[in-house]
Amino acid sequence: MDFKRWWYRTCKNVRKTFKKVKRWFKRYIRLLVRHTKAKDYSVLIYTVGAVIGIVLAFILVGKLFSAVTHIGKSKNQTTEISTPLDAMQPSTEDPKMIMANECRAVYDKNKDIMMLVNRTHSIPSGYSFEHHTLNCGLDVDERCYNDLKDMLSALNSEEMYYSIISAYRSSETQQSIIDSKTASYIGQGMSEADAYNKTLESVAPVGCSEHESGLSLDIAPEGVYSLDESVENDPSNIWLREHCYEYGFILRYPKDKEAITGFAYEPWHFRYVGKDAAKFIHDNNLTLEEFFDYLEY
Ligand code: DAL
Ligand code: ZN
Repeated sequence: MDFKRWWYRTCKNVRKTFKKVKRWFKRYIRLLVRHTKAKDYSVLIYTVGAVIGIVLAFILVGKLFSAVTHIGKSKNQTTEISTPLDAMQPSTEDPKMIMANECRAVYDKNKDIMMLVNRTHSIPSGYSFEHHTLNCGLDVDERCYNDLKDMLSALNSEEMYYSIISAYRSSETQQSIIDSKTASYIGQGMSEADAYNKTLESVAPVGCSEHESGLSLDIAPEGVYSLDESVENDPSNIWLREHCYEYGFILRYPKDKEAITGFAYEPWHFRYVGKDAAKFIHDNNLTLEEFFDYLEY
């Protein structure tokens, strides 16, 4: 039998079968209508049941087919999924370690300017820097001058004005501040030892003041020469505390961190660490002590 004849016969049979199915279907519909009109709903119920059964069977077969065809794929997905999970690993890592790594990266880029000076970290002996003398006659480290100028100009452009009370101090100047403060406490009736200890609560011992580095300044509202906590209420000080980091400075002795810095809150004392480091320290609400602690972690 050649293909043409076979094809002709097959088409003929399909047509015949289709006609037969059509006839059965029509007959079935007539039967359904007749019974339903006669209020006999049994045929209707069987029909609906059969349709639902057929649909469910199709869904089931579809699901089985999809499960079978995905078995191979899911095996591969195990390795594919493990890659994003691996990528998420750092989120489960020790958060202190993450912070320590970030601090190290910031420090590595800015270590020249990020010296830690406090009661336990004195200025290295023989430390020197390039001085820049400000209009007020005080000196700062040349490296902070441009950013300092920009910060103070920005403050002026907000129509707020300032007085620079202190910048670089030689060790002799630091000693004379200690002596005069101690003398003033003695004048108030304290013993020499008590007066000296009281002085060192707010003034760093010689060799341990950031002022000796040329990177720190005491900036007060214009015309204010006596520094106390009330400085924090002046708009110029509020502005400086909010914006200093944009110019590379940090508020070195913040409120509520006295136990960490070792010094009382000084809203007027700003320390230059460079813009990147200042932003990082500001954004993470750190003191320089906390930053350096992370480097040891
Ligand atoms: N008042 C700050 C701590 C200093 O003496 O450097
Ligand atoms: Zn100061």
